[in-house]
Amino acid sequence: MHIHQQFYGVTLNGTTASLFTMKNDNGVTVSITDFGGTVVSLIAPDRNGKMLDVVLGYDSLRDYETADGYLGALVGRVANRIAGGRFELDGEVYDKLYINDGENHLHGGKVSMSYVVWGVKEFAVDDKACRLVLTYRSPDGDEGYPGNLDVTVTYTLDNTNSLSIRYEAVTDKATPLNLTNHAYFNLGGYASGSILGHELCLDAESFVVTDGALIPTGEVRPVDGTPMDFRAPKAIGRDFFADYEPLRLAGGYDHCLNFTDWRNTAGGEVILRGVLYEPVSGRRMEVLTNQPCVQFYSANFLKNPLFPLKGGLQQRTQTAVCLETQNMSGSVQHQGNPDFTDCVLRPGEVYDYTTVYRFSAD
Ligand code: GAL
Repeated sequence: MHIHQQFYGVTLNGTTASLFTMKNDNGVTVSITDFGGTVVSLIAPDRNGKMLDVVLGYDSLRDYETADGYLGALVGRVANRIAGGRFELDGEVYDKLYINDGENHLHGGKVSMSYVVWGVKEFAVDDKACRLVLTYRSPDGDEGYPGNLDVTVTYTLDNTNSLSIRYEAVTDKATPLNLTNHAYFNLGGYASGSILGHELCLDAESFVVTDGALIPTGEVRPVDGTPMDFRAPKAIGRDFFADYEPLRLAGGYDHCLNFTDWRNTAGGEVILRGVLYEPVSGRRMEVLTNQPCVQFYSANFLKNPLFPLKGGLQQRTQTAVCLETQNMSGSVQHQGNPDFTDCVLRPGEVYDYTTVYRFSAD
């Protein structure tokens, strides 16, 4: 077990960002910057022990600061979209959320948690694990949300090749909250191209139906008999081009899938909910979580020519898989609809969810 901290860059507003590298006894290496709590690289072995970086990202802090796409970043207060940048909570209207996705609010707004340097509470190692503890205070009114919100995110790497992300938060006024990490995985290596050959298995029973602007309509539909059914492993490409409206409207997979029996399991034990497997390299990533849902996004918007990826690689759609564990998208808009998750954190409550990405190869 080994940790290392280095200078990463200076942001446009003059704040220094660092890069925190954690390496386990198997050589699995994760680098995270305190800018957005962003996972910059994640190096994992294939079935022959060959080490490659399996997350997409950029070569410099400046790119992370100016590009869109949220590559590797922590996302909040509310991951995904809030229609019209407006919501109601306890009879009050909040209608000043930042509009950054057509007419809607996306991923917490303009700066939010993804484009700031977080505090570093701890960076430590013992013989079992490396740990990076990041903190951020989102002030009352931040991006239009109510309440002072204190967030702690703990990244842990251990010798089971597990990268664990624990999200904790408390607030002094009721606020909607939905935190996630937005890593873009390509288990063949970040530069290996299409992910349509990756096999995915997700223990998810239903999904949130969205309209052409990717706004949840209020319908939650069982996955049975649809291309959204990943309960048995299948290649992502198998149904990708199926004539199915939700896929057509999103330009691929970009849907919130709800884990089986999410009502009784959310917030409880961290359990295995997903497996992503890349047959050429043999790399496998298991997703364990106690979150109720996962946004499965096949990087359909990853095509901005202005921001080449690591090593000058052009952005290309469907070259990464995001498995963003979270609350159900649309929960802010559809409060009171029993098909949706609770999305409000209240004073005195503790938001506490954990997701683990566990790597192996066979
Ligand atoms: C995803 C979302 C996509 C897109 C992406 C960022 O979480 O589902 O629709 O907005 O973030 O480019």
